[in-house]
Amino acid sequence: MNTEKIRKDFPVLSRVMNKKTPVYLDSACMSLKPKQVLETMNAYYTDYSACAGRSNHKLGVEATENYEKARKEIAKFISAKPEEIIFTKNTTEGINLVSHAVEFNGKDTVVTSDREHNSNLIPWQMLDKKGVKHRVVKSNPDETFNLDALQESVGNSTKLVSVVHVSNIDGYEIRGWSAELCRRDRPCSGLQVFGKNRNEQY
Ligand SMILES: Cc1ncc(COP(=O)(O)O)c(C=O)c1O
Repeated sequence: MNTEKIRKDFPVLSRVMNKKTPVYLDSACMSLKPKQVLETMNAYYTDYSACAGRSNHKLGVEATENYEKARKEIAKFISAKPEEIIFTKNTTEGINLVSHAVEFNGKDTVVTSDREHNSNLIPWQMLDKKGVKHRVVKSNPDETFNLDALQESVGNSTKLVSVVHVSNIDGYEIRGWSAELCRRDRPCSGLQVFGKNRNEQY
């Protein structure tokens, strides 16, 4: 990984502070935007700031085309179909949308881990009040992710599994758990929730 090349994409990292350029480690709270993103956002606000998917004047058409182009690129990046991509303003809104949109009944369970941010905890606790059971998979004593415990928690009543990819608590990355669970278990047919927050969460 060429970190010097990557640094050049982030204008703020060229600032000199205390005679040094900064090393930024607070992405869980606010991620820096690379210049490609800043330029694209700026172009929208300066050149074609109109309603996408609605207005059929020239600016609206341009906004729609770029919006749909972004949807296609993101779909390709995560091997999804463009119509499966829904833009939300953040992770919290995305998870709340799912928790309200899925039809749960009193026998359903939702499984999460014990290292979730509030945004992946409170929506499920609220469903808990409606009778939907919420199972929390405990980490191993050494704080690594316990895939066996996850497998034991997932059963016929499991409607949804929602587990952080990179923990905001300690930076621990749970890589490939869904693929591994599907490999171990029968073919996965359940609902999978993948989101991305400012901390590169999937
Ligand atoms: C792991 C994790 N999940 C979810 C969130 C909430 O993200 P958002 O502010 O995009 O709703 C954060 C924010 O810090 C986070 O670190």
